[in-house]
Amino acid sequence: MDKKIKILKGDGIGPEIVDESIKVLNKISLKYNHNFELEELLFGGASIDYYGEPLTDEVVEKCKNSDAVLLGAIGGPKWDNIDKNIRPEKGLLKIRKELELFANIRPIRLYDELSKSSPLKEEIVNKKIDFVIIRELTGGVYFGNKETKIINEVETATDTMEYNYLEIDRIGKIAFEVAMKRNKKLASVDKANVLDTSKLWRKTMHMIKEKYSDVKYEDILVDNAAMQIIKRPYDFDVMVTENMFGDILSDEASIIAGSIGMMPSASIGNKKLGLYEPIHGSAPDIAGQNIANPIGTILSVAMMLRYSFDMDLEANNIEKAVEKVISDGYRTVDIYKEGDIKVSCSEMGDIINKYI
Ligand code: IPM
Ligand code: MG
Repeated sequence: MDKKIKILKGDGIGPEIVDESIKVLNKISLKYNHNFELEELLFGGASIDYYGEPLTDEVVEKCKNSDAVLLGAIGGPKWDNIDKNIRPEKGLLKIRKELELFANIRPIRLYDELSKSSPLKEEIVNKKIDFVIIRELTGGVYFGNKETKIINEVETATDTMEYNYLEIDRIGKIAFEVAMKRNKKLASVDKANVLDTSKLWRKTMHMIKEKYSDVKYEDILVDNAAMQIIKRPYDFDVMVTENMFGDILSDEASIIAGSIGMMPSASIGNKKLGLYEPIHGSAPDIAGQNIANPIGTILSVAMMLRYSFDMDLEANNIEKAVEKVISDGYRTVDIYKEGDIKVSCSEMGDIINKYI
């Protein structure tokens, strides 16, 4: 198959981890006889330095005209104090919005061999932890009106959280569909005891639920969800929630699985075009040292092959290779424990490639 993939390496460890993922794409294309046409584009701080903005319209257009986008990470201290309208994060929000990627799928999975890297107690991590957080990605407080002004001589800031029925309905339907393909359990996370957006969220989920009688559904308030994720992570199958709750809960959940460096994500919409990125950030403190964990990005490539290209076989091949490096004891520093084989970012990429 011929596929056009845009590569946005971004900042910090972004370039290093994406380089390892490019090796994987090349290996897959050779092994399965695909033609992946890769084009690298500037994004985040790197784009600010060159163009004065984190994501140019030209890059957006190129991404729109591709089959998938692979992204590293953005941001760093260098751009922390610039005008808030051109911060690297703005570029990330812009690309999600422009490509209409309203569903962010974040699988949380603890590999047996990594249970010692999890901060949770043995009796919890001994059970199988494997669930998916589906985060709404183009609405809510991230995209509502923002304003900072002086009211009665006091500096006052406002962020508006807004959701309409259609935005909730479409993410809800994706969540129920994902649950149907997994263990048919769905937890919808909201704050319906306080927020109007959450009341509408819950009402909408309950309407969709009528059509999915096979799915065991529960509503959980977000504060309680934060507790339950720690207390009984093995109980969850699919969790769906709005943008900011999903941002917070997915970081919390990722550490259960040992390291945020292991966690991939897929951002999808109604078309085949998707954006694939690890859920971690640009980690400027370890950038350029070749010690970052490339697995989150490599597993994001697997998600790309599965969701955007329907290449299940190839995706499984990558996931199996990752399982094998883990079971063979290879570890980047974030998941290293005594007795393991410590490897660099590029060594990790090479070994995964060898196993593909
Ligand atoms: C994420 C990140 C981003 C978000 C930041 C970098 C804007 O934390 O993808 O989870 O909040 O969505
Ligand atoms: Mg986040």
